[in-house]
Amino acid sequence: MLALNAKDLHVQAAQSLKPVADLGRRALWGRGKAVIELDKVSYGYGGQPLFSQLSLTLAPGSFHFLTGPSGAGKTTLLRLCYADLRARGGKVRLFGQDAASLDRDAVAMSRRRIGVVHQDCQFLDHLTIAENIALPLTVSGRSNETDGNLQELLSWVGLADQANQLPPELSGGERQRAALARAVIISPEVIIADEPTGNVDWEMSQRLLSLLIELNKMGKTILIATHDLAMIRSMKSDVSARILRLKDGQIQQAGAEL
Ligand SMILES: Nc1ncnc2c1ncn2[C@@H]1O[C@H](COP(=O)(O)OP(=O)(O)O)[C@@H](O)[C@H]1O
Ligand SMILES: [Mg+2]
Repeated sequence: MLALNAKDLHVQAAQSLKPVADLGRRALWGRGKAVIELDKVSYGYGGQPLFSQLSLTLAPGSFHFLTGPSGAGKTTLLRLCYADLRARGGKVRLFGQDAASLDRDAVAMSRRRIGVVHQDCQFLDHLTIAENIALPLTVSGRSNETDGNLQELLSWVGLADQANQLPPELSGGERQRAALARAVIISPEVIIADEPTGNVDWEMSQRLLSLLIELNKMGKTILIATHDLAMIRSMKSDVSARILRLKDGQIQQAGAEL
């Protein structure tokens, strides 16, 4: 049995993440505008086009699933969304600014508004889980914000007891939750997660998704890449999410057939 069900989580999340949520809301710029926008973007590796003329708009507070077969370009598309890759053609706008016009500092500033959960969630193995989660604050000179929020965040993702363990001692599901906590600690407005339920069992994937839905209810914009259609199906009634399918270089709306 899970220690928390979705209802408990809702109550707990509402209380424990309030400071985080407030920060996110305060920072939310121009309501109604897209937080991330891909406008006729093209990208490819080594001369091979992966997609061209690809457009995607993430409105503030929206929830998107990005599905598609392995190799379709989901990870690439996410990396374009947080300016880890630069579009070869078309425009990527982050919070209204053309990503191509951003210098290194401006990209770093934008990234602070986007929490990323990477597919392979890497940690620094010589630091504890708590230290790893706090790292984004530490490196941006905001360690003073750590104390209260960190404990609350650890409880929220169900890792209070593992706070002082080292990353290799954690299970796959615990690592995924730690990666989510690390993405959230900077109070981002947007959370981008790449296959966050890739290596975890069914109950754990439900639990992770509940956390992402709670974050969305607090106003965060969420984009999740996943090939796990069963998981999307099970969550469809809990969140008003758009389901996008990436295939053959095109994005299509999916949903009805799920
Ligand atoms: N750094 C890279 N260099 C060359 N090819 C890459 C690189 N990253 C991804 N690819 C290729 O681009 C295609 C899309 O990859 P990816 O975005 O990881 O897809 P997905 O996440 O949907 O599985 C794949 O054919 C992959 O092999
Ligand atoms: Mg991928």
